[in-house]
Amino acid sequence: MSCIYVEGGHKLNGEIDLQGAKNSCLPILAGTLVGKGISVIHNCPRLTDVEAAIKILNSLGCKTYWKGRDLIVDANDVNCDTISETLMREMRSSIVFLGAIIARMGTAELSSPGGCELGPRPIDLHIYGLKKLGVDIKEERGFIKCKVNNKLRGTKIVLPFPSVGATENIMIASVVAQGETIIHNAAQEPEIVDLANYLNSRGANIKGAGDSCIVINGVKKLGNTEHTVIPDRIVATTYLSAVAMTTGDVLLNKANPQDLDSIIPVIEEMGSRIFVEKDKIRIVSKDRVKAIKTIRTMPYPGFPTDAQAPIMALASIAKGTSVFVENIFENRYKHAIELNRMGADIKIEGKVAVVKGVDKLFGTTVKSHDLRGGASLVLAGLVADGVTKIEDIHHIERGYQDIDKVFKDLGAKISRSDV
Ligand code: EPZ
Repeated sequence: MSCIYVEGGHKLNGEIDLQGAKNSCLPILAGTLVGKGISVIHNCPRLTDVEAAIKILNSLGCKTYWKGRDLIVDANDVNCDTISETLMREMRSSIVFLGAIIARMGTAELSSPGGCELGPRPIDLHIYGLKKLGVDIKEERGFIKCKVNNKLRGTKIVLPFPSVGATENIMIASVVAQGETIIHNAAQEPEIVDLANYLNSRGANIKGAGDSCIVINGVKKLGNTEHTVIPDRIVATTYLSAVAMTTGDVLLNKANPQDLDSIIPVIEEMGSRIFVEKDKIRIVSKDRVKAIKTIRTMPYPGFPTDAQAPIMALASIAKGTSVFVENIFENRYKHAIELNRMGADIKIEGKVAVVKGVDKLFGTTVKSHDLRGGASLVLAGLVADGVTKIEDIHHIERGYQDIDKVFKDLGAKISRSDV
């Protein structure tokens, strides 16, 4: 299995271009299935999750090819409504293809995505929303079988929780439904806005994306488009945390600073200086950071759950004690066990993590258990005494493009090995 070796103690200086957002391009790739058309997706990150999504598109009849950082998807000949169990297993978030396949084919069959490293990942809100649109859904023996009764019909849907994936599935399925769909208590993440912008650029009629109420008026067809994926705000958070931990001076180019409105103040409160202009974020960190009072993860625009692990790595070496409350996922502290193996002092009580900052971390062998937790171990390795070996880095490669190269270019002593 591939792993990363990192030797701690090197400052990070220089500048990097931020990658496109994984959690934006995946639903957009699903959206390419709705209606015939060719989509040119600019700034599409090279990630294993994107490769998995491409396999799914190809298995459904699309033609896909890369042109530099652009991914071209020709969805004119979609001829299949089923995602194989193997492909579903490759990427849990394949569920986001459900609404798109139904909108295109009128039927769909997927295996239930099951749980993942973050705990059970129910899809009841996805099913609830699609049923409201007129989809007959049977869940039997681990498979989800869907069939549209007559036509997808617009309706009012109130989500009990602003689920990102459910909002995306409902939005995608409703763009070609008959009439108006209103999603109340919709997710408001920037990735939802990006998906709506992509669909509208193909001729959809979506208003209110980014607010808690989204109105979609069904259209007859969608056309071709070119769309640029927004920058990845969680990867930006990860890199800013790395500089805050190692001290240094780094400029992030091709960023959307406004998408980090709930994160930048936290990193500043911990002691780093951050300068923002247009699509750039510069961080200057000279001293050991201070602890942060309490971080509660919330749906956007609150503090994002995906930023919890990188900020916890930062807090693990801060002066003082920080408290985290993970309100979104029930099992998102596995990285704490690994950080403690490196000498961190983190106590977990249910949703709460108490992080007592330590003066030093020590290099050892640790395991990635999930995407953001794995990245937090790389951050810890950047400051630990000695060399840290991070195993199972396939989790990290789902969402971070060339993380070892990025840090190496900034001055880290880091390498990856595929043995
Ligand atoms: C998306 O997952 C992201 N993934 C996650 O990023 C992110 O952590 C999450 O949104 C929250 O922001 C992608 O976009 C591919 P949810 P998603 O539906 O859509 C519960 C990363 O690290 N829920 O908002 O699955 C669910 O169990 C990944 O990049 C239901 O109960 O998130 C969870 O507790 C990790 N029923 C909470 O809602 C449902 O039908 C949030 O889930 C759906 C969700």
